Amino acid sequence: MKTICDVDVNEKKVLLRCDLNCPVNEKGEITDDFRIRKVIPTIEYLLSKNAKVILMSHLDNPKGKVIEKLRLTNIQEKLFEYLDLSILKAPDCIGDNVRKMVKEMCPCEVLLLENLRFHKEEEENDNNFAKELASLGDIFVNDAFGASHRVHASIVGITKYIPSFAGILLGKEIKTLKNVLEKPKRPLVGIFGGVKIDTKLPIIKKFIDIADFVLIGGKIAEEIEFSNPKLIVAECEKHGFDINEESIEKFKEIIKKAGTIVWNGPLGYFEKPEYEKGTKEIAIAITESKAFKVLGGGETLFAVSKYDLEDKVDFLSTGGGAMLEFLANEKLPGLDPIL
Ligand code: 3PG
Repeated sequence: MKTICDVDVNEKKVLLRCDLNCPVNEKGEITDDFRIRKVIPTIEYLLSKNAKVILMSHLDNPKGKVIEKLRLTNIQEKLFEYLDLSILKAPDCIGDNVRKMVKEMCPCEVLLLENLRFHKEEEENDNNFAKELASLGDIFVNDAFGASHRVHASIVGITKYIPSFAGILLGKEIKTLKNVLEKPKRPLVGIFGGVKIDTKLPIIKKFIDIADFVLIGGKIAEEIEFSNPKLIVAECEKHGFDINEESIEKFKEIIKKAGTIVWNGPLGYFEKPEYEKGTKEIAIAITESKAFKVLGGGETLFAVSKYDLEDKVDFLSTGGGAMLEFLANEKLPGLDPIL
C-alpha cells in the first residue's frame, strides 16, 4: 500500500478523506467521538511535516440536500478540542469560496470542508465532482477505512485525478484485519449478531471457512437457514430479544479457550436493560479472555463503551460495514487505487 509516509508533504495541500461519520442525536450533537479521536494521529503527523491539511468527510445521509443539523460544525469543535488548534471550516466542499479558502491556507493549517453528502454527486461517484474535489489538493490521502466499502467520489473517483495514498489509521486497520485472516492465533472465534442477516451472511460464510467456531446471536440467529459443525446458533428467549442462559454458557466456554476473537453485532436488544444480559455477559467474557480481540460496528462499540470495556479490547475497528466487507472479501473499492 502507498502510504503518506512514502511521500513528501512539506507545504503541500493534502486532501485527507476521513470517516468522521459519528453518531448524532436529533439535534445533531455528537454522541460518540470515537472516529474523530482515531484520525487525530494522521492529522498530527501531517502537521508535523508542514502540510496544509484539508479534511473531507460525510456525516449521516442527507441524500444530496443541505440539512442544517448535519453540518460539520460540531465536528470542527471536537477537532479543535483534540488538536488544540483553530480549525477553519468551509461553507461547502466545492466551489469558488472553498477554492479561495484553500488558496489562502498556510502550512500547518487545517481546513474542514462541509459534509460531502450535501451533494448527491458524492454517492454517485460523479467524475466532475471528483475532479473538483481533487483540484483542491496536491495529494489525496484516504484515511476513511469506515467508508472505503463505498464507491463514492471522495473515496474512489478522486483517485483518478490526483496522486493517492493511504493514511495511518487505514494502514493500521488493514494490517490488523489481514493478520486475523492470515495468521490468527487459534482457535479463531467469530461472534456475529445484530438484525440484518444480509449484511452478515458473507462474513459468516467466510468464517465458517477460516475460523474454528462461529457463534451467532441477536435477531440474525433466527434467520440462519443452514447448519455446519463450526456454527453455533444461540437459542433466543424473551420474544427473540435476547439469547438464553444455556447459549450464554455455551458461548462463554468457547470464548474462554479462544486465541483470536472477532466480534460484530450485539446478541440481543441490549439498549433495553431487560434484554441486555446476553450481550453484556458475552462482552465481559470476551474482554476477560486472553484472546486477541478485534471488535467493530457501531452497536458493538456502543455496547463495549456502555459496559466500560473499551480499554480491554486489543483493536476497535472504525469500520462497521467496511470491516465486515474486508473480512469477507479481503478487498474494498477504496483500497484498490492506493495499492
Ligand atoms: C459507516 O458509518 O459505516 C460509514 O461512515 C459509511 O457510512 P454509510 O453506511 O452511510 O455509507
